[in-house]
Amino acid sequence: MAADGAPSSEGGPRRDLLPPVPGRRKSKPLRRREDGWLERWMATIADLAWLKESHPMLDAVIDEVDPARGRHIRIKDRWLVDFASCNYLGFDLDREIIEAVPAFLERWGTHPSWSRLLGSPILYEQIEERLTSLLGAEDTLLLPTITHIHMSVIPVLAGSGTIFLDGRAHKTIYDGAMIARGHGATVHRFRHNDPEHLEELLRVANGAPRLIAMDGVNSMTGNAPELAAFARLAREHDALLYVDDAHGFGVIGERGPDELCPYGKLGNGVVRHQDETYDGMVYVAGFSKSYSSLLSFLALPTRLKDVLKVAAPPYLYSGPSPIASLATTIAGLNVNETRGDRHRFEVWRKTTRVLERLRELDIYTPNRSGYPLIEVPLANHEDIDVVGRYLFDRGVYVTMAAYPLVPKNEVGFRIQVTAANGDDEIDLLCEVLGEINERFALQHQHHRELLREARNSRG
Ligand SMILES: Cc1ncc(COP(=O)(O)O)c(C=O)c1O
Repeated sequence: MAADGAPSSEGGPRRDLLPPVPGRRKSKPLRRREDGWLERWMATIADLAWLKESHPMLDAVIDEVDPARGRHIRIKDRWLVDFASCNYLGFDLDREIIEAVPAFLERWGTHPSWSRLLGSPILYEQIEERLTSLLGAEDTLLLPTITHIHMSVIPVLAGSGTIFLDGRAHKTIYDGAMIARGHGATVHRFRHNDPEHLEELLRVANGAPRLIAMDGVNSMTGNAPELAAFARLAREHDALLYVDDAHGFGVIGERGPDELCPYGKLGNGVVRHQDETYDGMVYVAGFSKSYSSLLSFLALPTRLKDVLKVAAPPYLYSGPSPIASLATTIAGLNVNETRGDRHRFEVWRKTTRVLERLRELDIYTPNRSGYPLIEVPLANHEDIDVVGRYLFDRGVYVTMAAYPLVPKNEVGFRIQVTAANGDDEIDLLCEVLGEINERFALQHQHHRELLREARNSRG
């Protein structure tokens, strides 16, 4: 079979060219080379596909990391500072966490290959218990990844009802909604972060059950929605609010007079940070970012947990997380209790330095939250290649935000700051941002404000 699904020349005559078998219903022709389906896909993702082939910061092979130097990575013969890692708390490089792993492996081996429905190591129960208490939720259910959760749980929650999907929901939420649509759900999209538009849709769209799906801390802008407005609408319109807080969990948490920084305490996520309740809500997040472990979870009512244990394929069929990941989760929860707030303080302090530098240079970023995801859009999306190359040559490794990962007017790069980045690494980043600002066309805060004023005065 050829890569595009067409039968290869060695495979005998092409079935789509054969005459129909008498008495058999004529089946749809198979996908053929001439259909141009692959070309159409490539045209949609052309910018990204081209960058993937040509750019050193996409699809890169990392040869080595050097924890002794902060967050340094080596690609071939070049050392770079990593500002693309989601290990916000620096737990991937934490000695206490690393040294905790061998004892778990001695006891459990590397990987228990039962399906979860058959049986799970008691480590799962221990993590769920601690996590439920950390979040202050009714219950939690651990599954391998957030992507698995969206693909399997959104269709269960939506049934043949209606999904109200935020216009900028993460692609994995979107894909979960598309699977649900394949199972009979209807999907409506509301303008990003716009409760008024959501309310309009909730008033007119029929179909139960109803699910509102959106991000917590957004993976590109770094901002979080005001959950209170969405939670209120969900309760008023008998809908379930489904929130993916992949980037908020571990970083932000409940507020208190003894907090070390505005991220709050304990890293128990956006719901606790905004003093919301889990009433009418399913909260989804994972350990694969702040806790550097392959594991994810839902905070949910116990009744729903019991349903998902027999309805969600990742519980029924997927392999469990490796023991090393369960071990680093447990060790990470210990470290979070004893010194997590100090790590969050470091992330906040270093992020603030970068945001202040952008402000000083008048460079626009959508980040208004102060959280450690800082997108820097370019004035011309075609410049992404040269700007990326400049950053690479200066030893700064970031996430390339190419179209269609972001809208064309947001194409640029994303900086992520972690507790493990050294102050010297932040110094380098701040210096290189100044150079980028001199050499390339970025979006500037004052230009945007002038444009907005002009638009407003035109009515
Ligand atoms: C908002 C959001 N949701 C889900 C995911 C996917 O998470 P996982 O690796 O657990 O599937 C990501 C990954 O970047 C993300 O940013």
